[in-house]
Amino acid sequence: MPELGDGWRLGRMTALDLHAVADIELRAYSHPWTRGNFENSLKSGHVGLTLRDPANTLVGYAVLMPVVDEMHLLNITVDPRRQRQGHGRLLLAVALATAHAHNLGTMLLEVRPSNVGALALYEEAGFAEIGRRKGYYPATANGREDALVLRRAWHDGKESA
Ligand SMILES: CC(C)(COP(=O)(O)OP(=O)(O)OC[C@H]1O[C@@H](n2cnc3c(N)ncnc32)[C@H](O)[C@@H]1OP(=O)(O)O)[C@@H](O)C(=O)NCCC(=O)NCCS
Repeated sequence: MPELGDGWRLGRMTALDLHAVADIELRAYSHPWTRGNFENSLKSGHVGLTLRDPANTLVGYAVLMPVVDEMHLLNITVDPRRQRQGHGRLLLAVALATAHAHNLGTMLLEVRPSNVGALALYEEAGFAEIGRRKGYYPATANGREDALVLRRAWHDGKESA
C-alpha cells in the first residue's frame, strides 16, 4: 500500500461520503455519475475508496468492481481544484493494491481517447490498450465517443501488460 502524507486518510466510501463525492463528480466531468449511480454501485458491493486531506476534506475517490478474476476500475476522480498534485497517482496505486489484496491478477478500465491526462496517468502505471468500444460514451451534441479499454496484469509476482 502506498504511503500517505501526515494527516491524510484513505477510507472506504459510504453513504456519508456521497454529498462530497457528488459535488466533486459534477465539477470533474462533462457527463458525471449521479449520486444515485454511486448509491447503486455501493449497494451492488463495489469497492469505493476515498482520499481525505488533513482537514478531512474529500480530495478524490475511486470505485472498483471485482468481476470473477479481474478488477474493473469504474471511476477515479480528483477534485479539479486539487489535480496535478499526485493524488490521482496515489489513488490508482491504492486501487491496484486493493486488487492485489483481493487476489485478482488483472485490472481493466475504460477511458475516453480525448482524456489525455487520465491516459498519461494510466500509461505511467503500466496499463496498455487492449481494445476499443465504439460509441461507448455520450459526448457533445448527441454525438458519441469511443472508449479505449486498458488493461494491466500481473501474475505470480511478475507484472505484464
Ligand atoms: C485523471 C485524474 C484522476 C488524474 O488525477 P491527478 O491527481 O490530477 O493526477 P496526478 O497529479 O497524480 O498525475 C500523475 C501523472 O499523470 C499524468 N497526468 C495527470 N494529469 C495530466 C494532465 N492533465 N495532462 C497530462 N498528464 C497528466 C502526468 O504524467 C502526471 O505526472 P506529473 O504531474 O508528474 O507530470 C484527474 O485528472 C481527474 O480526476 N480527472 C477528471 C476525472 C477523470 O477523467 N477520471 C478518469 C476517467 S477514465
